[in-house]
Amino acid sequence: MLAYKDVTKTYTPGQPPALLGATLRVAPGEMVALLGPSGAGKSTLIRCANGLVRPEAGAVTVAGQPVITLGSAELRAVRRKVAVIFQEFHLIDRFSVLKNVLTGRLGQVSFWRAALGLWSAADVAMARELLARVGLEGQERKLARELSGGQRQRVAIARAMMQAPEILLGDEPVASLDPVTGRSILRLIADLTVERRLTTVLSLHDVTLAREFCLRAVGVSGGRIVYDGPMADVTPDVMNAIYGSGGV
Ligand SMILES: Nc1ncnc2c1ncn2[C@@H]1O[C@H](COP(=O)(O)OP(=O)(O)OP(=O)(O)O)[C@@H](O)[C@H]1O
Ligand SMILES: [Mg+2]
Repeated sequence: MLAYKDVTKTYTPGQPPALLGATLRVAPGEMVALLGPSGAGKSTLIRCANGLVRPEAGAVTVAGQPVITLGSAELRAVRRKVAVIFQEFHLIDRFSVLKNVLTGRLGQVSFWRAALGLWSAADVAMARELLARVGLEGQERKLARELSGGQRQRVAIARAMMQAPEILLGDEPVASLDPVTGRSILRLIADLTVERRLTTVLSLHDVTLAREFCLRAVGVSGGRIVYDGPMADVTPDVMNAIYGSGGV
């Protein structure tokens, strides 16, 4: 369960807040589409859930535990439960596919073991299994830079799953991909959400794709959540409320 309660974030004093009183609960097994125009606050909402952004008011909890806790060990423990994938994949180009996936384990193993490449046999087996699950069997030794965009996002998803997360966040995870590849990535995320009971929140620019895969939509505009409900009820009027009349 991922929960936001009255979350407000202002980056620059004197400027309007990027998020204002955002309240939202997403349950395990749900896959929610975050919709909203550029600058609405979607990335800010996502970053508040893994501690990358610290709201000045309100609370974000993961499985009932606040994301911002006092001790750094506790913070690490909570953050480990939250995996994020990005538009630009954020792989390490000069590392092999397998090693990129293993870095998903960094929160759990000691820095030195990782730096020396001393991954446990169990971790390597898990990484290989995940690569097979995302459709990259036999590609383990390739370098990340040798992959296509869709393959790179598959590696990023396998890396995210290596964390054994409870929450999966995606900040425009298919925005760099063509529609066919984007659809196959969303299919994979939807299947993993069900298989692993993930709590999944994805910001998506492509509303058509969002409609295909997400039963619930959350509309953000000017830092406020202006819609939260079934995707089926996202009518042209709701679209206007989210995107403004100049929108889609
Ligand atoms: N690091 C930052 N420093 C200052 N202002 C920021 C920062 N990040 C975001 N903002 C501002 O906060 C507001 C919300 O930005 P955010 O990136 O959350 O929007 P978004 O909905 O993700 O937009 P996009 O669709 O373009 O990615 C914007 O006004 C943006 O300029
Ligand atoms: Mg953004």
